[in-house]
Amino acid sequence: MKKRIVAGMLTALMAASMVACGSSDTATTDSSADTAAETTEEAGDTAADSGEKITVGFAQVGHESDWRTASTNSVQDAFSEANGYDLQFVDCDNDSAKQIEAVRQFIQNDVDYIVIDPIVSTGWDTVLTECEDAGIPVIVIDRTIEDSDKYVSWVGSEFMNEGLASGAWLKAYAEAKGITDLNILVIEGSNGSSAQIGRTDGFKKYADAEGWTILDSQDGDFTQDGGQQVMESYCKSYAGKFNVVVCQNDNEAFGAMDAMKAAGVSYGVDKDVILISFDACKAGLEYVQSGDINADFMCYPLQGSYCADIVKALKNGETVAKQTFMTEPWYVAEDILKSITYTNNAGDEVTEDLIQVTDAASQASY
Ligand code: AHR
Repeated sequence: MKKRIVAGMLTALMAASMVACGSSDTATTDSSADTAAETTEEAGDTAADSGEKITVGFAQVGHESDWRTASTNSVQDAFSEANGYDLQFVDCDNDSAKQIEAVRQFIQNDVDYIVIDPIVSTGWDTVLTECEDAGIPVIVIDRTIEDSDKYVSWVGSEFMNEGLASGAWLKAYAEAKGITDLNILVIEGSNGSSAQIGRTDGFKKYADAEGWTILDSQDGDFTQDGGQQVMESYCKSYAGKFNVVVCQNDNEAFGAMDAMKAAGVSYGVDKDVILISFDACKAGLEYVQSGDINADFMCYPLQGSYCADIVKALKNGETVAKQTFMTEPWYVAEDILKSITYTNNAGDEVTEDLIQVTDAASQASY
C-alpha cells in the first residue's frame, strides 16, 4: 500500500512552499504549512513504517552531455535501492512529448514522487495538474518551469547569472588585454530550455550595454556534434571576422574546438579567438588548464542528494523551500584578473573570485 497525499493536502503544501520562494535557500513555515505538514506526516508514516521502498519516477532530459551523465548518476545514486528507493528512470532523449508521456506513465504507475528535469520551460501546467490531482508531489531539478507552479520544490542553477557572469568576465578580460573590438559568435544550448534562455539573455545584456557585435547565435543542442556543425558553418560564413566564441556548454565547446582546428582558427589564451564555455565539467576544466578555453562558468549537476533530502523532508511532514540555488564558481585560464564585480539577476552587486585552473583533476568533481 502506497501512501498518498490527497490533492487538497498537496495544494496546501505547495502553497506553503511558495512562502519560502522569496529567499533562495530558506524554508519557512506558517500555520497552513504546519497543517499540511502534519497531515503529510500521517500519510507518510504508512509508507515509512511498512518498510516498503519509496518509488520515484525521474524524467531526465536525455544524454546529450558530460554534465547530463553526471546529473543522471547523481540522481541514480541518491535514489538507489540500497537507500530504500525504487527509481523508475526515463531518458527522454531531448524529446518534450516523450517527457510528458513519461510523467503520465509515472502517474499510471502510482509512484510516490516524481522528479522532472524539464527539457523546455513551457507546456507543463496540464500534466502538473494531473500530478496534483493524483496527489503525487513533483520535484523539479536543473532547468526551470515557467508556466506552472504546481511543483513542490525546484533545485538548480540561476542560468541568467551564468550568462551575466560570462558577460562581466569578457568585459573585464577585454579591458585587461586591451581588446576593443569584440565580434562574437554564440553557440546556444537547446532552444526553449531555461539553460539556453538564461545564458543567452544574461550575456546579451552585456553585449547590448557594451556595444559588442553578436555576428550570429545558433542552436548547437548542447551536444559535441551540434557544436561542431554550427562552428563548421560559422568558420565558412564568418572567416576572419570573429574573435570571440561563446559555447553554452562544454560539449559544444569540444565540438567547436575541433571545427576551428580544422579551419585553421586558433583559440584560447592569446590566440585568434577567446573561447568561453559553461558547465566546468572535468574535461572542460582540463581545457581551461591547458589554455584552450579561456573561461568556464560552472553549472553544478550533482543535485541528487538535494532531491533525496526533499523527499525525506516531505515524508517527515516538513516544509521545503520552493527554490534552492546551486553555488557556481567561475574558472579561468590566466591569472590576470582575481575577481569580478557584477550585478546579478536579483539586482544585487556581488563580487565573485575567479579560480585559475592549475590542477583540473583536483578541481573537477564530475
Ligand atoms: O540544463 C543544464 C545544461 O544541460 C548543461 O549546461 C548542459 O551541459 C546540459 O546538457
